[in-house]
Amino acid sequence: MSSIRYSFILTVCASCSISLVCAADDNANNSPKPDTTAEITSKVSLVHLGSIDTFTITEQGTLAGRFLLSALDSKNLSFAKKAKEIYETIIPTEHYGGEYTALEWFCDYLLGNEESRKQQLGDRYHNSFFEFFSANDFANLKEYLTRKYKLKKLADSGTEAGRDRIAFLEDFILFNNPRREEWEKTSKIIEALKIQPGTTIADVGCGPGYYTFKFSELVGASGKVIAIDTVQEHLNYVKNLATKFDITNVETLKDREDSAGVRANSADMVFMCSLYHIIYTTLTEEVKDRFVNSLKTALKPDGRLIIVDNAVVTQGTLPYHGPHIAKELIIGQLYYYGFDLAEQYQFIPQRYVLVFKKRTDQIANTK
Ligand SMILES: C[S@@+](CC[C@H](N)C(=O)[O-])C[C@H]1O[C@@H](n2cnc3c(N)ncnc32)[C@H](O)[C@@H]1O
Repeated sequence: MSSIRYSFILTVCASCSISLVCAADDNANNSPKPDTTAEITSKVSLVHLGSIDTFTITEQGTLAGRFLLSALDSKNLSFAKKAKEIYETIIPTEHYGGEYTALEWFCDYLLGNEESRKQQLGDRYHNSFFEFFSANDFANLKEYLTRKYKLKKLADSGTEAGRDRIAFLEDFILFNNPRREEWEKTSKIIEALKIQPGTTIADVGCGPGYYTFKFSELVGASGKVIAIDTVQEHLNYVKNLATKFDITNVETLKDREDSAGVRANSADMVFMCSLYHIIYTTLTEEVKDRFVNSLKTALKPDGRLIIVDNAVVTQGTLPYHGPHIAKELIIGQLYYYGFDLAEQYQFIPQRYVLVFKKRTDQIANTK
């Protein structure tokens, strides 16, 4: 009796998987499937979301944060020195690309002289980052340290407003980190993209605009960058910075989770840095369908979809501090959305760059 039931289940499963494969192949219109075999190179999962409001908190990281807060509160630089000593130890050992390098940058500022401070603030975007955190006697930096390392209970701790606030401050410190170039090799990523003057770029999930303003310089006065995010505070920062620096080729757009909201057939490049792992892991299939289709519609026929995301590293390599997703999962999934991988780059083990183009048979559908 039990063996009959077992074989029935097997038959049902087999026919299910056959019909799924057929449906997928129809969708891909006979275009060759990409080789998306993901090699397992460590014990970690191929996709990992972790906590998206605030990333790993360690004992040493907390201690360094406490020292930095004491330095700001008491103006006693010996605390900044202690914090710096800890950052020197934990930056190469604890995790990659997190907040430590930005916090060490503040220690360097506090411990620096007039000349070194001038150098640190020489870049106008770094200067604006500093102004954001240092205004009102470093109010935002103190608040970040307090919330991040749970150094004190605040009135809204544990509420949605409190979670939104730390998520915003965390994004801000991570993505506008003045030392991001050092860990990410941003300029190599941008150089590989060969951005042309006069082009239109949609920076989807722009955060506080780190890439937006770099693209703005490259597309020039005849081009345009549309900075898109679901979080209004990020867009406000981008808008205010554009006004402050008299930058006229940056527009902001608040999107819905299920659509980037960009006009059809208008973008030469849709760029998403550190966003696809969120799309992959948190959206329902229906919402993801609408979201990815909105990117496809936004692109011009020969436009490029660029995805920068965090790699699964081999055992022994310091992993990215936050979420990661094996690139093969994205390449495989986007194939079924009608995108072919055209190029790929990797300048550090923790982050890759994927360049997709719409498959020829998809272009007619989205014109
Ligand atoms: C990890 S941050 C990356 C920020 C920026 N791309 C960078 O690299 O500096 C991801 C950003 O995507 C935004 N986001 C999340 N879901 C989104 C969606 N469906 N559409 C647009 N932005 C989204 C978040 O608010 C956040 O600012």
